[in-house]
Amino acid sequence: MELRDNTILITGGTSGLGYEFASRLIDMGNTVIITGRNQAKLDQTKKKLPLVHTFQSDVSDPLAIKALYESIIAEFPRLNILINNAGEMRKLNLQDTSIDLNDIVREIDINLSGPIRMIQQFLPHLKAQPKAAIINVTSGLALVPFPLSPIYGATKSGLRSYTKSLRVQIKKTGIKVFELVAPGANTPLNDKFAGVQEGVQLMDPVKLIAVALKGIQNDDYEIYPGLSKVIKMMSRIAPGVIFNQMSKIADKAFAETNS
Ligand SMILES: NC(=O)c1ccc[n+]([C@@H]2O[C@H](COP(=O)([O-])OP(=O)(O)OC[C@H]3O[C@@H](n4cnc5c(N)ncnc54)[C@H](OP(=O)(O)O)[C@@H]3O)[C@@H](O)[C@H]2O)c1
Repeated sequence: MELRDNTILITGGTSGLGYEFASRLIDMGNTVIITGRNQAKLDQTKKKLPLVHTFQSDVSDPLAIKALYESIIAEFPRLNILINNAGEMRKLNLQDTSIDLNDIVREIDINLSGPIRMIQQFLPHLKAQPKAAIINVTSGLALVPFPLSPIYGATKSGLRSYTKSLRVQIKKTGIKVFELVAPGANTPLNDKFAGVQEGVQLMDPVKLIAVALKGIQNDDYEIYPGLSKVIKMMSRIAPGVIFNQMSKIADKAFAETNS
């Protein structure tokens, strides 16, 4: 996929991987639109990237997706690439009885229902473009469960499964479907895990997105930067080893409840 002269919508572009995608794709000669929930963060991003276009929109809200679609199609009729990047990851102790039943599935609404609804809404428009692509950001944790963040892992393996099915169903449309299997990266998403994931190497987002962009340019439909490649290989040859490592992190974090 050539990454020049495209009109690209990135969900969650105010920090981390989404910001890095936006910054690089603008430099490469694309029109870039980003979303996020927090208007102040969108305004700060606009100051840092004056060419970026911003829309306040929450991917977990179907009405917001509909409104976003209407505004974007009116203003950017040549939109041809959708990057489903917005996501949230929480540490969740499933024995915590104070967790609200609505709140426990919040990551599903954002990380899984969000991309599915975005694609459903934008698909007819993307199909009508001469060239188009969808890029879904999953995680190395789509390949192996992470008991510290059980709902997050479920959303990412769910998104991976959905992405594979989507690729089959729309293969004749000409829309290219990519999965970026991102490894742990040094972004604000990981701030709340400081001290919990001892020894876990986090990739520089600049390097991660450079690998992602090269993969998209090479039509490499599943992209495994850094440690994701190792997790992929290990989960085939010795699936128990990585899962045991992941389990130890949760055992330590939730030691009091499990004793
Ligand atoms: N960092 C990692 O270690 C890692 C590893 C593997 C995969 N990933 C995946 O990479 C993607 C980006 O993560 P990141 O590390 O860059 O996180 P981040 O730095 O926390 O950025 C998340 C972005 O998503 C936006 N966002 C969150 N919830 C949203 C919602 N409901 N609607 C619209 N925008 C929303 C945030 O802005 P607002 O808060 O203002 O909405 C922000 O712009 C996620 O899908 C994540 O799961 C990250």
